[in-house]
Amino acid sequence: MGAQISRSSEWQALTAHAEKIRHSHLRDLFAGDAGRGERLSAQAGDLYVDYSKHLVTDETLGLLRALAGKAGLTGRIAAMFSGEHINRSEDRAVLHTALRLPRDADLVVDGQDVVADVHQVLDRMAAFSERVRSGEWRGHTGERIRTVVNIGIGGSDLGPVMAYEALKSYKTDELTCRFVSNIDPTDLYDKTRDLDPATTLFVIVSKTFSTQETLTNATEARNWLLAGLGGDAAAVAKHFVAVSTNASRVADFGIDTDNMFGFWDWVGGRYSLPSAVGLSVMVAIGPERFRELLSGYHTVDEHFRTAPLESNVPATLGLLNVWYNDFLGAQTHAVLPYSQYLHRFAAYLQQLTMESNGKSVTLDGTPVDHQTGEIFWGEPGTNGQHAFYQLIHQGTKLIPADFIGFSRPNHDTGSMHDLFMSNFFAQTAALAFGRTREQVEAEGVAADVVPHKVMPGNHPTTTIIAPELTPATLGQLVALYEHITFTCGVIWDINPFDQWGVELGKVMANQLAPLLTQDEAPAGDQDSSTNALIARYRAQRGR
Ligand code: F6P
Repeated sequence: MGAQISRSSEWQALTAHAEKIRHSHLRDLFAGDAGRGERLSAQAGDLYVDYSKHLVTDETLGLLRALAGKAGLTGRIAAMFSGEHINRSEDRAVLHTALRLPRDADLVVDGQDVVADVHQVLDRMAAFSERVRSGEWRGHTGERIRTVVNIGIGGSDLGPVMAYEALKSYKTDELTCRFVSNIDPTDLYDKTRDLDPATTLFVIVSKTFSTQETLTNATEARNWLLAGLGGDAAAVAKHFVAVSTNASRVADFGIDTDNMFGFWDWVGGRYSLPSAVGLSVMVAIGPERFRELLSGYHTVDEHFRTAPLESNVPATLGLLNVWYNDFLGAQTHAVLPYSQYLHRFAAYLQQLTMESNGKSVTLDGTPVDHQTGEIFWGEPGTNGQHAFYQLIHQGTKLIPADFIGFSRPNHDTGSMHDLFMSNFFAQTAALAFGRTREQVEAEGVAADVVPHKVMPGNHPTTTIIAPELTPATLGQLVALYEHITFTCGVIWDINPFDQWGVELGKVMANQLAPLLTQDEAPAGDQDSSTNALIARYRAQRGR
């Protein structure tokens, strides 16, 4: 078993350094360094990233980079990109970066020409998308498709719905997409009740094609379709396509594998948006725009793969996350996009970051003795300003926050975007510098109210600004967070690519399901709490 990273001299140096930094204030760090704002910034593709409003000095950054050296970050990046089996508990390569390699790139892994396979699927997706978008693809009764319903959960839902919402201003007016994920029957009911089966196409997305929620929703969707189209089973072929790595299960479900778009076990669910999992997004925005999304991802992949640590944006931001999480005691991390179109971004990031780094054993199975995964949360600005920002400004918690904004709006509405963005700039300045007692007193505020109006400041933020929200900048942004997540996982010496913790709940739900529906009362051989809750539920269901 390897020594824990927390025993290293690099880690100990940061622990000691944190005691000094704890007592510094951003006001002083800025006052003593006129060039700080520009110096502590970097660019990855179109993303300009300002990390000067963090509780760090040049010494901190040096120590963090030394920690990255100790953890072997550079070598681990190379190992991921080359297709080594870095997902050790599942003995798999981790190659979501291959999904966005250009057609003329070269990558053969485990004997598979990965680039050729990726582009073969992309070409099939493009041909299919064009047929649906142009109206050439017809439903069972000869009508064109007007609504695409994506059925999937976790990575088979959150990526597509986030990107569809983010790129709404690029979508065709000829159709809309809806997303069903929850096994709560109201989700499917609400999303289909006003639809015409004759003009509806279901895209069933499941890497394993065994996920209870998705298969149950897909079965109900098929019943709904057949009931609406006179019961002719031949209709399924015109109204159902599948995205999966599991062709035999797709066939068992009754979907023609000619209408299946594949991907590979080296694509984790939460990293799968740029694979065939993004099919509904491609149908909505068109193949060309989808390829721009992929090329945006690739730009930041190349940056992460090649930039030295000093200017490597994902590595720097990942190290800052480790700094707050492991040395300054932060528990959560806010993500605050100033774009209504990014209203599902935080939900998407929650799976990406928390399913990846919510681990408590090292790669060799030893329990970690340091903190791992942060808790991510957020809402678009300015809505968040009128909800939870108060706690960030004047509460007692340390909450590093990412502010994400765009210089140009997707729709020009005169000065409204400028007003919106003035909030964006005002918030990070207010969080950093606050208002001192002297400033408040100078305004003539009554003495007993002064303490309530003092804004302590010193709240750390990252500002990420891009010219405009486009498919390319969205791809860059998602790749940025993927690689931040990877960087943290490397430092913490955990596996960001498995998710065994989700399995127990799935197994237990399958075991309990019959107890809720069977005629006779269950034997009551669960724990006393679960027995009593099930009995109450059965009684209220009249069983
Ligand atoms: O939540 C666990 C999980 O396995 C995720 O990792 C995955 O994205 C999701 O379930 C859905 O899995 P599938 O695509 O196989 O239906």
